Amino acid sequence: MTERYSRITGWGKYVPQKVMTNADLEKLVDTSDEWIVTRTGIRERRIAGPGETNTTMSVAAARQALDGAGLTPKDIELIIVATSSADHLLPSEASEVQYHLGAECPAFTLTAGCTGFVYGLVTAHQFIAAGAYRRVLVIGSEIISHAINWEDRNTCVLFGDGAGAVVMEASSQPAGIQSFVLGSDGSGAEHLMVRGGGAVYPISHEMIEDKAMYIEMNGREVFKFATRVIEEATLQAVDKAGLTLGDIDLLIPHQANLRIIELAARHLGMPMDKVFVNLDRYGNTSAASIPIALAEAVEQGLIRDGMNLCLVGFGAGLTWAATVVRWGQPAEPVEWPLVWRFAPAGQKVSMVAARVRRQARQLATSASSLLLPLYTFAGLRKPKKDE
Ligand code: ACO
Repeated sequence: MTERYSRITGWGKYVPQKVMTNADLEKLVDTSDEWIVTRTGIRERRIAGPGETNTTMSVAAARQALDGAGLTPKDIELIIVATSSADHLLPSEASEVQYHLGAECPAFTLTAGCTGFVYGLVTAHQFIAAGAYRRVLVIGSEIISHAINWEDRNTCVLFGDGAGAVVMEASSQPAGIQSFVLGSDGSGAEHLMVRGGGAVYPISHEMIEDKAMYIEMNGREVFKFATRVIEEATLQAVDKAGLTLGDIDLLIPHQANLRIIELAARHLGMPMDKVFVNLDRYGNTSAASIPIALAEAVEQGLIRDGMNLCLVGFGAGLTWAATVVRWGQPAEPVEWPLVWRFAPAGQKVSMVAARVRRQARQLATSASSLLLPLYTFAGLRKPKKDE
């Protein structure tokens, strides 16, 4: 049977031990817990400590996802890592993860800002739907604290480190990814950018003094963009899945700012108890935010088989993406005809019968070659010309 559906069969997350609270930030920049909580909803975030890298966090989240799926790294046929904060410019983050995980498969890194994980899910789905691969690992991981200017209060209060991962497997049952929407509008690139370190503004003393290696953001523009695209992309993805908003059991938006999420939910007419939020504890972990949120929502028992989820991301680029996912295995999706239900048993019987027939044929051949001289000697059978 064609396996054109892709189900999420394993999920996992890793967040660094080190907690940075709003009170800690008050010591670094001119801000306050009250300002950060009322403007963003964030209370604390995790920051990678010594020995924690994008790779170690990705591998930890991936191991959890693989365990959940009952697979080993060797079972994985493709790895996609979504990140904007790789450990090195070269090689690709995904190849480092593949090696340290102990997988033996192709791997590539995908960059689409905070939208990267949903882009990664959709890309994995294409490989599975095309029949190229059956088991794909998708990771969203960020060690974004290294790209933060800890003197810039406009950005340093927002972000945190972490990683999330899912295993996607081919399925013949209509579950998993039901629809998707991907978008990009590069005209808004300047609103969320790291100006330095690339080909346009290479590393130099001047670039470093200019602090161009850090994230710069026009918060108000990103805010307006985010509330618009969450609403539009969600509606489009739900419509493409042949559903209505009422059919969506849980919306998992990119965790950037509680006000953005609440405003978008209000525009959509979705009650907040159907919208997952954990940014108060992790801040904006960029491409890691949606898989971390997904893993936590499952841990908290908020996601059950048969539920419809909508994952929606937005971020640098500017980019956005949404996908509707039917969770778990459908209960009894297909009325199997009687003969198919017994197909495995029937197949075993016919294999045994084929083996018996083959052995009988071999026996008859050797018996006849043994008896041939006797028959010939007794004159019971005349040899043919070519014998
Ligand atoms: N503490 C105290 N005051 C602050 C802080 C701070 N940390 N940051 C800004 N302010 C001040 C500003 O300087 C400004 O002061 P002024 O009026 O004297 O000029 C005032 O607060 C209001 O600033 P605004 O920018 O209007 O504040 P706003 O309510 O828009 O909130 C915020 C700012 C939180 C950044 C908001 O715009 C936002 O969340 N934008 C979206 C950001 C986002 O989601 N980015 C991630 C995208 S995903 C990715 O790909 C990485």
